[in-house]
Amino acid sequence: MNVLRLFDDYLQDLARNLLIDLLGGSILGGLPTYRLADGLYLLIKTITLAYGAAYTALKAPGWISDKAKVKEMLVRAFIEAGVYVEKQRKDWGDGKMKPYRVFPTIERVAIAANCTTINLRLPIGMEPDLIERKAWVFQRVFGPTAELVNDRAGRFRLLIPKTLPAKIPYSLETAQAALQRTGGFALYIGEAYNGSVAVDLKQAPHVGLVGVTGWGKSTALRVILNTWLQVYGPDRLRLFLADLKMTEFGLYRGVPHVEGAIAVRRAEVVAMLAEVHEVLLYRQEMFHQAGAVDLDEYEELTGERLPYVAVCIDEVASLEGESAAHDILEEIGQLGRSFGIFLILSQQRVDREVMDGKLKNNLNVRIAYRMSDDMNSKMFLGTAAASGIDTKGRCYVKQATDTVEVQTPWLSPKEARAQVEDIKRRYAGVAKAPLLPPINPNIPQPVELNDEESADLRELLTALMQEEVPPHASA
Ligand SMILES: Nc1ncnc2c1ncn2[C@@H]1O[C@H](COP(=O)(O)OP(=O)(O)OP(=O)(O)O)[C@@H](O)[C@H]1O
Ligand SMILES: [Mg+2]
Repeated sequence: MNVLRLFDDYLQDLARNLLIDLLGGSILGGLPTYRLADGLYLLIKTITLAYGAAYTALKAPGWISDKAKVKEMLVRAFIEAGVYVEKQRKDWGDGKMKPYRVFPTIERVAIAANCTTINLRLPIGMEPDLIERKAWVFQRVFGPTAELVNDRAGRFRLLIPKTLPAKIPYSLETAQAALQRTGGFALYIGEAYNGSVAVDLKQAPHVGLVGVTGWGKSTALRVILNTWLQVYGPDRLRLFLADLKMTEFGLYRGVPHVEGAIAVRRAEVVAMLAEVHEVLLYRQEMFHQAGAVDLDEYEELTGERLPYVAVCIDEVASLEGESAAHDILEEIGQLGRSFGIFLILSQQRVDREVMDGKLKNNLNVRIAYRMSDDMNSKMFLGTAAASGIDTKGRCYVKQATDTVEVQTPWLSPKEARAQVEDIKRRYAGVAKAPLLPPINPNIPQPVELNDEESADLRELLTALMQEEVPPHASA
């Protein structure tokens, strides 16, 4: 304390001397300059102290709440994995013996910039191998980097470094838990250093995946689709798939969630998008009649639950020049959310026509794998970070103003195929409701023809009539 006092006196003297040197011994008709110097010094000191106190008051609860959050997550992990000892004690109220749980003691939580460390002490009666066997739960709760270290004598350290492993095996349980946590209709992307990343499509409905060739876009689509197929039934989700490289989506052929064939040629993709557009218009009409604003309200009002629809196109840049397809994609980007119709589009570069303009602005979940240069990364993410990615399957996920680094789990095509075969078996013979009303052959359907088609039709009819007219009739 004395040292502080001395330092304070020293600063005060310094301020006095400085001002006397500058202004002389007295100013303003004889007021001693040292009084002015002391006044100024006191003012500056008060402002500095007040600022320091306010900073501590605002910041300290943050530190405390971060630690409290870690403790709460730990207890959740202990409960989930059964890491506790159950004991009995007499209840104060009714005097009966009641069970209670004793968890490991959390001795210390230290949150540093690059690693969080938690010191744990096991309660009497808990075998160390119980917590060791259940170490997976810490990865589930704190992310894939969490590591449990046995310090012996019933003490453990849980380390959670803020780095990501280069490869993470796909786990359906992890993906499913991440989807459930969002509470909505969600999309699982992968693992950040502090846990799984999933986005609620009702909040952020359209997804763009971008990155140079061979760094993980198709693998990410496989992870997204396989998770969906295993979690949601065809009554909840329908897929329209297009794969212009003809290499990726073959394994989804015959899956009951998939509408029609997998589009592999430009004309097929255009036809597929026209069908999605029909679904959009049909839902627009139905919602209008029911007075509903979105899928949830429609279900509330009518009791009918409509499936979500996801349109997934790998390498959407191959549609360059197809203005009809582009228009439909733009329209879905604008209106799809209310009608439960979502877009997932992948492409190697951002500066291509298809993902430009209005459509790009509506892709509110942006997933960037390695990008060719800073400019492309900035155009898509607002930061150059993605051009520096050096791990396959590593991406930046941008949603609203948040950008997180994520590792997509590795799901091999073989494993994916086995999962898909399971899905086909699970839903074999299950009828699914059509997305559009069936066409009734008894009601004439309007057909729109362009000039060329009308001319063709007229020619065909004339030819048919000429054939059918018997020679004697014209005589
Ligand atoms: N999440 C991942 N974890 C580990 N390795 C990965 C991951 N994603 C991709 N890879 C590796 O990179 C290879 C290429 O990945 P992928 O086919 O997904 O790239 P792509 O971005 O779709 O490329 P293209 O633009 O040429 O289609 C994979 O075969 C695999 O070896
Ligand atoms: Mg690919």
